[in-house]
Amino acid sequence: MNKEFLWGSATAAYQCEGGWKEGGKGLSNWDVFCHSEKNSVNPVTGDVACDFYHHYEEDIRMLAEGGQNAYRFSIAWTRILPDGTGRKSQEGIDFYHRVIDTCRKYHVEPLVTLYHYDLPESIYEAGGWENRNIVEQFVEYARICFEEYGQKVNYWVTINEPNYETLCCYGFGNYPPNVKDLGRRWRAMHHMLLASARAVAVFRELKLPGMVGLVSDSYPIAVLTDNEAHKKAAHMADLFFNLCVNDVCVKGAYPQDFVDQLKKDGYDLSYMKEEDPSIFADGCVDYLGINAYNRYIAEPADGPETNLGVNNTGDGKKTKFQIGNWFSLGEDSEMEKTPWGMEINPRSIYDLLMDLKRLYPQIPVIITENGVGNYDEVVDGQIHDQYRIAYLEGYVDWIERAMEDGCTVLGYFVWSTMDVYSWINGYKKRYGLVYIDYDSDDLVRIPKDSYYWYKNKIQNRRKSFNGKIHSIY
Ligand code: BG6
Repeated sequence: MNKEFLWGSATAAYQCEGGWKEGGKGLSNWDVFCHSEKNSVNPVTGDVACDFYHHYEEDIRMLAEGGQNAYRFSIAWTRILPDGTGRKSQEGIDFYHRVIDTCRKYHVEPLVTLYHYDLPESIYEAGGWENRNIVEQFVEYARICFEEYGQKVNYWVTINEPNYETLCCYGFGNYPPNVKDLGRRWRAMHHMLLASARAVAVFRELKLPGMVGLVSDSYPIAVLTDNEAHKKAAHMADLFFNLCVNDVCVKGAYPQDFVDQLKKDGYDLSYMKEEDPSIFADGCVDYLGINAYNRYIAEPADGPETNLGVNNTGDGKKTKFQIGNWFSLGEDSEMEKTPWGMEINPRSIYDLLMDLKRLYPQIPVIITENGVGNYDEVVDGQIHDQYRIAYLEGYVDWIERAMEDGCTVLGYFVWSTMDVYSWINGYKKRYGLVYIDYDSDDLVRIPKDSYYWYKNKIQNRRKSFNGKIHSIY
């Protein structure tokens, strides 16, 4: 087991691999969606993406040369089980053996995510996460991965972002199945949490080394007006964005006031079965993965209407976000924002980590994603992404402060290792430490200034971060 602080960066299969019909891979819901007319905002696909499927050795080598000792990636379910269940693909299984072995070759610790948004099409067509059958289908897939790779992987993630994914699928309606129906959303999320808990139980049953966690997009929630109505709104936002996932995977149960609110809203909760509380309780995680990007400002909702807008074009236009009777999101006009509306506020990670320590004192955290997406350009063969350096530097420094104040953080992963496909936003919104020249024949990789900054930062901070985590191993 690695006893060093994990300094890494992250990607996900659909966003980087390409090779959508290679190696015996089956179709995923994203393959199908991106080829359909529903994909109309930025009509591009992940068919090739940055072709990690063929460039994985180069990408992992560059990551290691950039001083990083860890790499987070996801497995495409459709490479392991092309039809979602049943028939296994040896070619797909071998691909991830090669990826993991390449990590080991370069002394890079792999952190492996089992599910990052891409569902086998056949499972999706049968209702996807809304259909309870998916729980055991996911367990079948997870068990294969644990048995294949379990002896050489120390950090596992069951599911990436049950909250944000389902919000996009069933709230904004910009991810497949492209509907706006929060009732269906809560049902899908419930099944994700059950699937994760069941996979955690299987991981334990197999007595594998290492740790298993879930990745939760989590948000510090603030108010700009200090009164009871705003405090109540902040709590509702906390339930909506954070507690409904984090309480379940860390403490094994939903917060009671969350369930009460769903009942009050009149949702049919018959999908919550009698046996579910014990499944949750048996599947609590070893660590919590946190994807940290921005802070939310909560305000009281101005009525029962739900109004969910999202900016997928990077045109700087504001969007509205209100969950009827729960809360709405405001904004702090003093703070800088990206053209997609994300607030730049590194200090907020300190508040989030302190909140997590207060709520779940026994659980270590790994920051599994942190980054900023924006337009980048090549000038004389270089990419001067000073804005990204300032953002990441702020986050790392505030994480260190939180560790000094008692938070247990085991690792930090920049999103993303290289530029990748950004869901719905296409390829112009770039997050990578390495630039991909999508116009070149061989998808040339160029390290950005942030890549060199990160290398330096790791070198300078390695010792002090290691000193802060040793006590927990
Ligand atoms: C996270 C996801 O929510 O945010 C990543 O786990 C994603 O897959 C990242 O790419 C950035 O979001 P976006 O929509 O700007 O690409």
